[in-house]
Amino acid sequence: MYFRNMTKPIIAPSILSADFSNLGKDIEMINSSEADWFHVDVMDGVFVPNISLGFPIIKAIKKIAKKTLDVHLMIVQPERYITDFKNAGADILSVHYEACTHLHRTVYAIKEAGMKSGIVINPHTPVHLLKDIIKDVDMVCIMGVNPGFGGQKFIENTYTKCADLKSLIIAQDSSCLIEIDGGVNDVTALKLLENGADVLVAGNYVFSAKDPVATIASLKNLTAHTQNVL
Ligand code: DX5
Ligand code: ZN
Repeated sequence: MYFRNMTKPIIAPSILSADFSNLGKDIEMINSSEADWFHVDVMDGVFVPNISLGFPIIKAIKKIAKKTLDVHLMIVQPERYITDFKNAGADILSVHYEACTHLHRTVYAIKEAGMKSGIVINPHTPVHLLKDIIKDVDMVCIMGVNPGFGGQKFIENTYTKCADLKSLIIAQDSSCLIEIDGGVNDVTALKLLENGADVLVAGNYVFSAKDPVATIASLKNLTAHTQNVL
């Protein structure tokens, strides 16, 4: 098991669970919180069985967001839209391993467009398939649920995948971050941090809370509990 050092995790609330009839209010809430990034889920109804949001909404978020926009593409052929997402305001652009035939080319196209590049893997995709690209990518996101919906139950095998990915990153001396998306709450987050996670995406856990700002703060400060293990 890998234990984190004293660095606090990066917290990325997923706006998929925000109130879309009053999105500005939730954006301001995140602005005023200890969150580091906005996690923005784009779904096309083909790669995943749901449709979420597109360029107009991302541009609107960008206008008032004071933090990094972490855009997660759950779409087929994401390479067609790299420049459009850059122009809409994405700072980090993540594509699914399962959606890219020429993943290496896509990762470099994202970087050349001026964004950080991320690769997302579904629950059934093993970490070792990333062996030949782990030094090229800025972040790998492990799905803790099958993508498409917020509020699903966390898949326990994600802990092992997180530890495997950390080992791969260390073995290859990569500076790649580990992000976990789906099913993150105070209990799963702690174990994920113990297994090497750097970035926690949280949708339902944050937005269904009575006090989302305090919930974000509690995730941000979870490392306090893991320091003792060092
Ligand atoms: C799922 C999305 C997630 C989602 C996570 O396909 O990629 O970002 O918002 O939601 P929770 O945290 O509710 O599992
Ligand atoms: Zn996501």
